[in-house]
Amino acid sequence: MKLRHYLQFSEFSRAEYEYLFERTRWIKAQFKQYKRYHPLVDRTLAMIFEKQSTRTRLSFEAGMQQLGGAAIFLSTRDTQLGRGEPVEDMAQVVSRMVDIVMIRTFEQDILERFANVSRVPVINGLTNEYHPCQVIGDIFTFTEHRGPITGKTVAWIGDSNNVCNSWMKAAAIFDFTLHVSTPPGYEVEAERAGAYDARHYRHFADPMDAAHGADLVTTDVWTSMGFEAEDAERKRDFSDWQVDADMMKRAGPDALFMHCLPAHRGEEVSADVIDGPQSVVWDEAENRLHTQKALMEFLLLGKVA
Ligand code: CP
Ligand code: NVA
Repeated sequence: MKLRHYLQFSEFSRAEYEYLFERTRWIKAQFKQYKRYHPLVDRTLAMIFEKQSTRTRLSFEAGMQQLGGAAIFLSTRDTQLGRGEPVEDMAQVVSRMVDIVMIRTFEQDILERFANVSRVPVINGLTNEYHPCQVIGDIFTFTEHRGPITGKTVAWIGDSNNVCNSWMKAAAIFDFTLHVSTPPGYEVEAERAGAYDARHYRHFADPMDAAHGADLVTTDVWTSMGFEAEDAERKRDFSDWQVDADMMKRAGPDALFMHCLPAHRGEEVSADVIDGPQSVVWDEAENRLHTQKALMEFLLLGKVA
């Protein structure tokens, strides 16, 4: 089987995502019915974390165990990576001992250097630039609630960060329109996002205009991991980019609200929105488990159905 990595959203075709979602639905149904499904017996996942995590660690670790395999947690603090061992040397060693690797790190370049040397599939568990596993879970969640996302409008309000960049890549693949509104100085970086036509991407100076008529409104923290030094400045710059009840009223009548979590109520989202009836954030978090199980199955076994 050809070695495949999952380093960013554009790694897979639309047809491959459709397959992944079909597998996700089936794998989720087994889980809900307490049915054992162990296709990955004797397979080991190494999870390398250079940043903190709740959902990503839990969903990959629990997911691998539920598929019959084992997962090992490694952090910068406890490995020689933290003492300057080259990432290529780490990749040589890790990929001779396990079957699949998930990495959460800083620059995308670190992940790519690891993958270039790795003998086994490597998954992006978040970098400064991208968080593709999040957006697989998000689009699967949208589909569960509202059907296909093709032709819909998604509004991204706030920072043009790793999650936003992955939504940008998803828009062309799933053929939906992404409205992005960021404060001045925080616009989407063209080289990260790639070139997009007006059908898939539009920028709005006013977040209310971005939300207008949207089928999904989504946001994320104003300060991502690794950017903590800018926190005070960002709090000032982003103060008008909060998703609140007025903004949700500007969206479509059936609009959903998503947030990858962790969230800061009173900053990027008001409590009444994230805890309100349009919010699907808990389904979104849960679906990280089911979609990533399908992803690991696909990368290790290829198409099984
Ligand atoms: N959404 C997400 O990736 O959460 P964690 O940082 O908790 O993994
Ligand atoms: N943009 C956030 C996502 C956390 C899951 C960060 O990078 O910190």
